[in-house]
Amino acid sequence: MTTPSALLQVMMTAARKAGRRLARDFGEVAELQVSKKGPGDFVSAADLKSEEILKEELAKGRPGYGFLGEEGGLDEGTDKTHRWIVDPLDGTTNFLHAIPHFAINVALERANLDGTSAGIMAALTYNPISNEMFWAEKGKGAFLNAEKRLRVAARRKLDESLIGTGIPFAGRPGHGVFLKELHQLSQRVTGIRRYGSAALDLAWVAAGRLDAYWERGLKPWDTAAGALIVAEAGGVITGADGGEFSLDEGTVLAGNSEIHALVLERLKAAA
Ligand code: 2AM
Ligand code: CA
Repeated sequence: MTTPSALLQVMMTAARKAGRRLARDFGEVAELQVSKKGPGDFVSAADLKSEEILKEELAKGRPGYGFLGEEGGLDEGTDKTHRWIVDPLDGTTNFLHAIPHFAINVALERANLDGTSAGIMAALTYNPISNEMFWAEKGKGAFLNAEKRLRVAARRKLDESLIGTGIPFAGRPGHGVFLKELHQLSQRVTGIRRYGSAALDLAWVAAGRLDAYWERGLKPWDTAAGALIVAEAGGVITGADGGEFSLDEGTVLAGNSEIHALVLERLKAAA
């Protein structure tokens, strides 16, 4: 049994409250698939509501911290050395299509006094449908719910590994590169999965369900929580080119160290 710190408890309380609301709204979405208007506006409202709840609850627990949310953008706050990075609904397309695979992300970034990032200190990714809370604190390890310590998978062979990815969607660049990467990898791995939530892909790498995961075109709120969770589960996280991972660069390759290196070789071969 591991007891999360007071800070993590603030984050978990906020995520559970927003998660209850999302789960309730998700129940309505299935009905709306068949309505003429479709569920689009309803889902946008659910997304906004989730962010509102998170912002309010986090501010109650830690007044003054800055807040960067997918929906509302940046609110600098009075405390310039702490900033929440929040995705109130990661996997929106799944939610919209009544597919129960989405999550809430909350990460706490510390800044140095000169404004440069000192990194992510604490993070959670919460799936309110499966009730799985993935969380981590810097230097203290990564966990699933209260009881389970997370470790990346021990698989060492590419042909035994299951790899997650994200496919660029309509209006986005990178379809050609993606097809070349897929060609390099699909003939060498046991399977490729495209689940539609970057946050859960990263959490699942941490949990050893996926052996690696790569994607391009991501935003800070997609990856801030998962990056720490993977690292604290003993995984390696870099950009898709193998360089240092950065929230702003928007590409990611995560995995255990062996599979990470083998996937990176194939991504380089595709370039
Ligand atoms: P979002 O649900 O918060 O938007 C999956 O490839 C990742 O890309 C998700 O984490 C998702 O985050 C993001 N994404 C943004 N727009 C998307 C779209 N139209 N279709 C699929 N994923 C999208
Ligand atoms: Ca997202």
